[in-house]
Amino acid sequence: MNKKIFIKTFGCQMNEYDSDRIYDIVKKIGYEKTDYYEKANCYLLNTCHIRDKAKEKVYHEIGRVKKIFRSKKKPLVIVTGCVAQAEHEEMLKREPFIDLIIGPQSYHKINDKILNFENQKTQREETEFDAISKFEYLNKIKNNNKKISSFLTVQEGCDKFCHFCVVPFTRGPEYSRPFKQVLDEAKYLADNGVKEIILLGQNVNAYSYEGLRLSNLIMELDKISNLERVRYTTSHPKDMTNDLIEAYKYSKKLMPLVHLPVQSGSDKILKLMNRKHTINMYLKIFYELKKINPEIEFSSDFIIAYPGEDKNAFEDTIKLIEEVKFINSFSFIFSPRPGTIASNLQTIEKKEAIKRLEIVQQKLFINQTKMNKSLENKTINVLVENRTDNKKKLFGKSEYMTSVLFDGDDDLIGKIVKVKITNSNQNTLFGQIENQSNQKVA
Ligand code: SAM
Ligand code: SF4
Ligand code: F3S
Repeated sequence: MNKKIFIKTFGCQMNEYDSDRIYDIVKKIGYEKTDYYEKANCYLLNTCHIRDKAKEKVYHEIGRVKKIFRSKKKPLVIVTGCVAQAEHEEMLKREPFIDLIIGPQSYHKINDKILNFENQKTQREETEFDAISKFEYLNKIKNNNKKISSFLTVQEGCDKFCHFCVVPFTRGPEYSRPFKQVLDEAKYLADNGVKEIILLGQNVNAYSYEGLRLSNLIMELDKISNLERVRYTTSHPKDMTNDLIEAYKYSKKLMPLVHLPVQSGSDKILKLMNRKHTINMYLKIFYELKKINPEIEFSSDFIIAYPGEDKNAFEDTIKLIEEVKFINSFSFIFSPRPGTIASNLQTIEKKEAIKRLEIVQQKLFINQTKMNKSLENKTINVLVENRTDNKKKLFGKSEYMTSVLFDGDDDLIGKIVKVKITNSNQNTLFGQIENQSNQKVA
């Protein structure tokens, strides 16, 4: 009988990609995925460390699992991801229920660790940074993701050391996968029915392999005939080089939504954050891209109430939001992270921080709602991904990543269809499919 693994994923898209790849690996030693944690022989928690309470979330989750399994055979408990990397020693001491701790650059060792544990039953951790071996190993195991939209990690780690961020410590130094390795994985995904590839990296536009850049990858993906859409995330303004900007002129598959985190609209704060870019640099990229294609829109990440953010600096962020009119952005109050330079700085009073976050989110909300409203009565291209959970409607994504719901047949899944938008709210577009005989077969 196959052993069952339950995987719970927190955090960013890269963790989602990693969880899928971890499953591809453990299948080799007989594990099968279950959606019911009570049935699991192995409980794997893939964790995120980006903001506070991350560590507590892990202990809380383990506590829950402990209770469920009080009267049953204990499953093998594995913690992976960025909390595993950052807190491994403390975790093993504090929580004997955890059996294995495996950091993000050691997933290629997971089967050995599991098999050893089955023999010896002693707690272990593996947190070396060894991205080369990891991807060499993963390259031999096919990525069997058959979702219509699939992630593909091309770059991992970060050398930028923004003063607020744990990623350089949890994911290690910047590493770019070999060009051919990435292309082979992309072709394999497309051959298996994937229609959209989202290239991933903590600094995806820092991708560099023997002189080849992210723009080269994008142009190669353009040539894969059964692939329809290409996106990439997350990029850094400093690495938004001319070749990447030019790719928007030449690529037919690159989508017109640019997710480019700015963090703050104030040069003073950007400097304190060690962001290595200014607002002028950011706006230059924005206007250059708008010149290439006026339909390009931006989304961003913001950190609100960073230490030193006075009223003027906060106003600068509001001004930037009004100028760029970001859609689909993420905004969070600054969260001090252990081991980072900003963790020792004087924080802004909580009440004031919440007030500022609400103002920013209100502004972002207005932009997003306006953008969606502007699409009402228009016909847009939608990549159909699946049925909604209640099976009543089809859902897909617009070119700007907004969810679109409409009636239609299952055979449209995986195709780009034309949908006339009849209604919208902040997060969703609702519409009717145009005459099916006019639809393009993807
Ligand atoms: N590499 C990307 C960049 O340079 O913008 C960001 C990657 S990080 C995984 C995702 C987002 O988490 C960041 O853009 C930032 O807004 C947010 N973040 C990171 N550290 C944070 C902290 N200490 N407090 C609040 N938000 C944080
Ligand atoms: Fe973190 Fe991004 Fe800064 Fe790297 S560039 S330290 S991942 S916010
Ligand atoms: Fe979280 Fe690590 Fe991603 S800290 S956001 S899971 S890179």
